[in-house]
Amino acid sequence: MGIHLCFVAPESLKDGDWLTPHETHVFQKVKAAAHRRDWLAGRLAAKKLIQRFFRERAGLELALSQIEITNDEHGAPVVTSPLALPISVAHSVGHGFAALATRGSIGVDLQQIRPVRPNLAKRALSERERAQLTDRFAEREREGLLVFWALKEAAIKAQRTRPAPPLREISVTLTELGCAEILLRDHSLTARWGRWKEFIWAVAWG
Ligand SMILES: CC(C)(COP(=O)(O)OP(=O)(O)OC[C@H]1O[C@@H](n2cnc3c(N)ncnc32)[C@H](O)[C@@H]1OP(=O)(O)O)[C@@H](O)C(=O)NCCC(=O)NCCS
Repeated sequence: MGIHLCFVAPESLKDGDWLTPHETHVFQKVKAAAHRRDWLAGRLAAKKLIQRFFRERAGLELALSQIEITNDEHGAPVVTSPLALPISVAHSVGHGFAALATRGSIGVDLQQIRPVRPNLAKRALSERERAQLTDRFAEREREGLLVFWALKEAAIKAQRTRPAPPLREISVTLTELGCAEILLRDHSLTARWGRWKEFIWAVAWG
């Protein structure tokens, strides 16, 4: 299965007519400035990704305004034009991240590296995961915790439906550097993670 990723930094956010009429209508309802910026960053990452995918796969040059992304009743992103493709979107402080799978389901997350609540590890991770955290991220526990968190959020998004399961019910095993396996109830997912600028990113699919 092919996985494709795209990151967008705030400086490449563009004004203009790259949204479809329906997207413009949705965007007009987003009021808070920070949310507007994030929404645009996520949309632009997803559209650039789909544009690149069609260019590389089919030699087809699509305008960004020919690609439409809506949200289903659970909030999950849906490509309504040019054709349905599994995608996932995340945004944080004006940065956008999107991933596309050629089949199956996919989820992404983007976490800015920042101080986290002291009890987060206990609340979100199992004993086995906390042992891996200590083992793999000595002296970098905050970053490591955000890796687990991003992987779990990516798994939630790959599942798409709500309500989301509690983070402790999602089991993450770190394997080689940048790779992980995730068990969400009976569903197993393959995952990758990494660092981009001041963020941890994660993608899970299966
Ligand atoms: C769905 C959820 C994962 C979204 O995460 P978030 O941190 O709010 O925001 P992100 O920037 O990572 O992602 C936002 C994007 O997720 C996507 N999304 C929203 N709901 C989704 C769902 N049910 N399934 C898949 N993707 C979804 C949307 O594309 C959205 O962007 P858009 O509205 O601009 O299209 C989150 O709201 C959630 O339900 N988490 C539950 C787990 C939890 O309790 N986490 C907190 C730990 S302390």
